[in-house]
Amino acid sequence: MKSLNGSARALVDTTAGEISREIYVNDDIYREEQERLFARAWLFVGHESQVPNAGDFLVSRMGEESVILTRDRAGKVHVFLNSCRHRGMKVCRYDDGNTKSFVCPYHAWSYDLDGRLIGVQDFENSYRPPFDRTDWGLVEVAQLAIFRGTIWATWDKDAPSFDDYLGEARFALDLGLRPWDGGDGETEVLGSIQKWIVPCNWKLIAENFAGDALHVVSHRSVDMVGIGPTQGPGRRDDYGRPHLAAYPGGHGVNYGITPPVKERSNYTASPVTAAYFQRCWEKRLARLGDKAGIVPLIGTIFPNTSFHLQQPRTILVSHPRGACETEMWRIYLVDKEAPEEAKRFLRLYYIRYSGPAGMTEQDDMENWSYATSASRGRIARRYPYNYKSGLGTEAGRDPVIPGFATPRNTSEQNPRILYKRWAEYMDAEDWSAL
Ligand code: FES
Ligand code: FE
Repeated sequence: MKSLNGSARALVDTTAGEISREIYVNDDIYREEQERLFARAWLFVGHESQVPNAGDFLVSRMGEESVILTRDRAGKVHVFLNSCRHRGMKVCRYDDGNTKSFVCPYHAWSYDLDGRLIGVQDFENSYRPPFDRTDWGLVEVAQLAIFRGTIWATWDKDAPSFDDYLGEARFALDLGLRPWDGGDGETEVLGSIQKWIVPCNWKLIAENFAGDALHVVSHRSVDMVGIGPTQGPGRRDDYGRPHLAAYPGGHGVNYGITPPVKERSNYTASPVTAAYFQRCWEKRLARLGDKAGIVPLIGTIFPNTSFHLQQPRTILVSHPRGACETEMWRIYLVDKEAPEEAKRFLRLYYIRYSGPAGMTEQDDMENWSYATSASRGRIARRYPYNYKSGLGTEAGRDPVIPGFATPRNTSEQNPRILYKRWAEYMDAEDWSAL
């Protein structure tokens, strides 16, 4: 297979619930994704708490591109392509830090925090008009949005606003990114980003988070060991009744709904954390009423930003590195106001669950990587994957939670909608066709 040529829909039959293995292992399709998907969609870049002060920077990724997230002297957040306009050198080779300017290590062109080219070696003697330094600043993203502390960007000036891109999935992010008391306070990133490589296609991760309740069986051993915040077995707090919802933009969320009762003591392994969450819960009940118990537990914002927004509370970006290789970047979020002891406790719990050595994460990585290696062969590729669970049982809409709901939590509705959107991107020439 050379190129899709407008035929992605033929590989992704979401009506029958069958998807060709080619889209997970084919290098040509992978290359086309970089152009048609990652160069167009809104992508997660970082969190405001990672660049709180002027001059703070963080090197992040958008698809395969390295980007610099920084804050200029006026406090404005920017995202630049991390590639020098002179001869392409990676301008910033550090993970994060604070700087007055970005000086390219190759021939020392230097850029201000707002991306302007301010220094060119031997400029007065060697360069003549019409060379104009103002034309050669760092390449900046076409659009940037900040949503409850999270920073998103797109390379496509014709992409819709981030709000329109989210559509009704905004409900999930808006609830999930608030502090646990449901107010308008801040969350912050705990420590540094954890980064690791998994030999699988990024879409296996995106669909898993978008709504794959069937795979929970693979975490049985973790449930038995008990790595959770509660004393005894289990790996998480009580999330109540699950509720799947999918969105036409390709986003999928698995909500947990608990009744608005007064007491919630899920953190018995740490009395300080338990007391903090109980105080938050009371405020949350007063603020949000019946909606207090609705939490976006797990989800994916299309294409590759996934999250757990209850406990553990993390954002995971699956950066593509090749058809069969993905770089996972995880950050852990915590309420800024939380006591230090609760932050320490949660950090250890989150890492136990979700880090590269996290026990739940290891189950998933094992599944994704073996599924990939067992799907690459010429024979294996002839047989599509099966996404038929819940076909024909879609329920329509819930009165409170927006999105397409399904009566069965084991439905593969959310992955089907994610792949439908994927095919639309791959076949569409531009945003007007999307
Ligand atoms: Fe950056 Fe030459 S490549 S100054
Ligand atoms: Fe899992």
